[in-house]
Amino acid sequence: MLTILTGSQFGDEGKGKIVDVLAPEYDIVARFQGGDNAGHTVKVGGEVFKLHTIPSGVLYDVRLLIGPGVVINPRVLLEEIARLEEGGVVVDNHKLGIDAKTSIIMPYHIVLDELFEAHRSRKIGTTKRGIAYAYMDKTSRDEVQFADIIDSGRLREKLDWMLPAKRAYLEFLGATDDQIERALDTEWLFETGERLRAYCTDVSREVNTAIAEGRSVLAEGAQGTHLDLIHGTQKFVTSSSTIAGSACVSLGVGPKMVDEVVGVVKAYITRVGEGPLPTEQHGEVGEHLQQRGVEYGTTTGRARRCGWFDVPLLKKSIALNGYTSLTLTKLDVLTGLSPVRICTSYELDGEVVDYPPELTSELERCIPVYENVEGWNDDISGARRLDDLPDAALAYVRTLEHMLGVPITMVSVGASREQMIRVEG
Ligand code: IMP
Repeated sequence: MLTILTGSQFGDEGKGKIVDVLAPEYDIVARFQGGDNAGHTVKVGGEVFKLHTIPSGVLYDVRLLIGPGVVINPRVLLEEIARLEEGGVVVDNHKLGIDAKTSIIMPYHIVLDELFEAHRSRKIGTTKRGIAYAYMDKTSRDEVQFADIIDSGRLREKLDWMLPAKRAYLEFLGATDDQIERALDTEWLFETGERLRAYCTDVSREVNTAIAEGRSVLAEGAQGTHLDLIHGTQKFVTSSSTIAGSACVSLGVGPKMVDEVVGVVKAYITRVGEGPLPTEQHGEVGEHLQQRGVEYGTTTGRARRCGWFDVPLLKKSIALNGYTSLTLTKLDVLTGLSPVRICTSYELDGEVVDYPPELTSELERCIPVYENVEGWNDDISGARRLDDLPDAALAYVRTLEHMLGVPITMVSVGASREQMIRVEG
């Protein structure tokens, strides 16, 4: 059985918590795209810390896989493994597998990310983790792969022809001596590769074998649908494809194998970095959502921009992913707001449209059309069944479900894994 789970907005929908809740029901959790630009929070031995590369569900008895569509920073990965082990969570090669073809984020990718972002007249607001530049080397076929860093002969050969070319490119771009030094500091990769060697695997083979043997696989997306490289709000997107179909491509599994596609959607909307966000709120409402929702980036610490629920954007996410169910997160954050507003369509150049226009420049001109619904003041963080919700909160869930036409099968009402409503079928 194969389930794909993706973020349906601009990332940070709370996917980590949902995967954490679902993981015990699966044998394998596999990451299929992105890199350490992603982030989720895990509590180990009373200590809370943030993971960027290791798939969610690490605390359970599941096999974790990193597919070849992911880009990894081996230093960040080793630090995560070390911290988990300090907290008593063993991350050996029985627990974690990394595909031999996974691309490595090299120090020069991080410096290039810095350099290009500094020179852009209109910034993207990247996480500066070198993601785009690692994927560029993949598509130009100049990447360093996981298979290279775990074999010192292959690594030496690659570095010998790669580093002079990278130096010339950095000099051409006007990099400082300090930047060039940081960019070309790669000798540490030999030791790091040695320490990671045991994790090497063939992810497609593992996933297909597991499905054939009746085991279950959860493909965990990173970032969100509208940050998709191909279908998102360019140029304010990440450099990988974040939608459900990307899981098949990157894990090497046929689309006929997919059983469920779960969309994780926040009860409002947030975005970190630049790019259009039609329902963005700057005043009291924006502040309420940001403070109550603790809307700060896990990776960069930046404050997230916040706004009302945007139905047109969700309709596009449903089309792009083919969701079979939705999980609504952070409903509790709306408590105390009245009225609660839902953006049902946009006004674009004098016309009302109920689906986002194809171009970012057009989305930037969209003015939201809202429907107001009743708010609620009761604390809902203890709700465990839909019936426990106050009428107005239940009506909000039902209204969204009706507008979107996809069943909402889980509702999250707080940060802990117990604060979850699973809707009976
Ligand atoms: P990059 O992925 O670092 O190149 O950043 C490109 C855009 O994607 C920026 O707007 C980032 O803020 C955004 N982004 C990347 N990763 C995440 C994430 O995990 N959550 C939310 N936004 C992200």
